[in-house]
Amino acid sequence: MDKVTVPLIREKKVGTPTAVGTPTAGGKISAVTAYDYPFAKIIDEAGIDIILVGDSVGVVVAGEENTLSVTMDQMIYHTRMVSRAVKRGLVVGDMPFLSYQTSMEETIRNAGRFLKEGGAAAVKLEGGASVADRIEALTNYDIPVVAHIGLTPQSIHRMGGYKIQGRNERQARRLLADAKTLESAGAFAIVLECIPMGLAKEITHTIHIPTIGIGAGPDCDGQILVLHDLLGLSPGTRKFVRRYADFTTLAQEALLRFKSDVESGKFPAPEEGFKE
Ligand code: KIV
Repeated sequence: MDKVTVPLIREKKVGTPTAVGTPTAGGKISAVTAYDYPFAKIIDEAGIDIILVGDSVGVVVAGEENTLSVTMDQMIYHTRMVSRAVKRGLVVGDMPFLSYQTSMEETIRNAGRFLKEGGAAAVKLEGGASVADRIEALTNYDIPVVAHIGLTPQSIHRMGGYKIQGRNERQARRLLADAKTLESAGAFAIVLECIPMGLAKEITHTIHIPTIGIGAGPDCDGQILVLHDLLGLSPGTRKFVRRYADFTTLAQEALLRFKSDVESGKFPAPEEGFKE
């Protein structure tokens, strides 16, 4: 199994010229979020290409209402756990709210921490043209960046909730222009979250870096899901989430069996104890 690298992800874009000059055939990019060692190991062994330590940790692990309270120290803690487990996939650390907005210096220092302390290979940050200068600087300092446009959860208060973006012509043109700007700034991939499928297709066919969709239809170069949504560990359903398993029921059944075995004296059995 070859290690997934930033150039390898770039080359997954259909038609990308390679070092020997032949355009690649592409191949869809799989991406999933992870926040801890055991799940990161399972995800990596399943051969998922990109493992994003998302700031969604604040919601799906910490039980917060949104991602805004997540701190740099929390992100580094989770990124280290994930990096320790991952042998093949590309670990990307998600820059939390206010870790790249205040100044260029803080942006570089915080992004650098993901690589230096967290063991990530790249960072992701949310926003359109307004973050292009950040992406350009990070790329110049060899910190690869994944951009993220459309529904950007850190902008929840501006958006007035988790709403599909790019539904009217003006918004759609702006998202397309943002995607081009972020590509020019040096992003090596771009997450498109909750935008109409037609717009995601147009962006994917216009820019030369891979698009990774979440709620953006089938035409993106790759797809990402939040692990807890995919495994049935988070409450509620969103239209674009496919639940591949029901871990909540599995865990409840196991715990009920344990409780009943403890109460009836069936656990532990003699062979589950020590003689001396
Ligand atoms: O934080 C996160 O999990 C994300 C993905 C939804 C792309 O940003």
